[in-house]
Amino acid sequence: MVKEICQELILSQEVLEEVCDCLQEEINKGLAKDSNPEATIKCFPTYVRELPNGKEHGRFLALDLGGTNFRVLLIQLGDKCTMDSRIYAVPQPIMVGPGDGLFGHIADCLASFIKERNLGDELLPLGFTFSFPCKQEGLTKARLAHWTKGFKCEGVEGRDVVELLKKALAKRGDVKIKICAVLNDTTGTLMSCAWKNSNCRIGLIVGTGTNACYMEKLEKVELWDGATDEPNQVVINTEWGAFGDNGCLDFVRTEYDDNIDRESINPGKQLFEKMISGMYMGEIARQVLVRLVSEGLLFGGYTSDFLLEKGSFFTKYISEIESDKAGDFNNCRAILEELGFNDATDTDCANVRHVCECTSRRAAFLAAAGVSVLLNRINEESVSVAVDGSVYRFHPHFHNLMVKQISQLIKPGIKFDLMLSEDGSGRGAALVAAVASRSSMR
Ligand code: GLC
Repeated sequence: MVKEICQELILSQEVLEEVCDCLQEEINKGLAKDSNPEATIKCFPTYVRELPNGKEHGRFLALDLGGTNFRVLLIQLGDKCTMDSRIYAVPQPIMVGPGDGLFGHIADCLASFIKERNLGDELLPLGFTFSFPCKQEGLTKARLAHWTKGFKCEGVEGRDVVELLKKALAKRGDVKIKICAVLNDTTGTLMSCAWKNSNCRIGLIVGTGTNACYMEKLEKVELWDGATDEPNQVVINTEWGAFGDNGCLDFVRTEYDDNIDRESINPGKQLFEKMISGMYMGEIARQVLVRLVSEGLLFGGYTSDFLLEKGSFFTKYISEIESDKAGDFNNCRAILEELGFNDATDTDCANVRHVCECTSRRAAFLAAAGVSVLLNRINEESVSVAVDGSVYRFHPHFHNLMVKQISQLIKPGIKFDLMLSEDGSGRGAALVAAVASRSSMR
């Protein structure tokens, strides 16, 4: 009976192929001038047109906002790369407070980072990784389309975030920096990997949110308004998290997905992301568990106050439970105890694990469907996909599940690999800044 209830989380090959067809169509709508205004997948051109050649060097600052933390980094690119970084919390009231408060906080953190390291005298180039959907109007101009992932600061949507950062820095008056680039984390991830791997064409994040970027030919990007000289290509930030916001994914969505969406800070938005990413995956599993208890199929039908609390089943629990060796439920039992279940049976543990597996497999297969569409579009013989994000990094089977599924969805003859990209949001930001200065010198 547990298996029967979980069945709706299992996506067949045919269903996944249908998801691919829909995604392909939605990306085409995003790229075409006439359909873009109504398109859910916006396919924003990034103004990044060149990949690094491995020779970039220099000292850069980077800011990274968009996951669970905010980071400031100092990066040395060259033969020997070094990185010094500090993580700063973004308190919840700042995440949902006025925009001035958010940018003031960023400016304060940057100032204290610079002061701590005595960097005050140097005019350092800075790359700003701002991982939200932005309509870019140049390499240093990005208007926030709308907030995602639990952020909701008033007065920022529709505004250029570089301008807001400059204003906040000017208000302090004690920080000298040169903002050279603003980028999405997917772009940073792609750049960071492309630095040493010239086959890299796709950047993917499966973390707090999910999104992908890829290198597209200019002739396919009808909204391109930049230069048309060589190279005739540009990185497209798909913002595929919004896939399904027009109802086209309803055939795979479940009651759990509906509940999560309804109770979220942005109902009706980012529906694909809500089925895949770390901000929601634990909550999907929790909803299934609550249903199983209420039908008397788990813990003898007795729940705990904890399990009934929204958000109490963290996404990291899924990775931990699935890291247990077959037949051993050590992590599972410890987590269930934390949730107030002290005498779970082996059957309970096996069922909890099954729920976790169904939830994470569905996420991995949907992300795989997305990557397959991009690989088929690029249609090159051999392509590397740069990947980052906590779900991909820490889930014990996510990588393998994705590889297996992508192999079944791509055109025969295409070879691919998924590479963990080391610190795309930091090093990638430095690389975009470096490549930008190279291009402007030509
Ligand atoms: C959300 C953001 C997107 C970002 C992704 C991963 O989907 O809208 O810009 O790339 O999360 O962090």
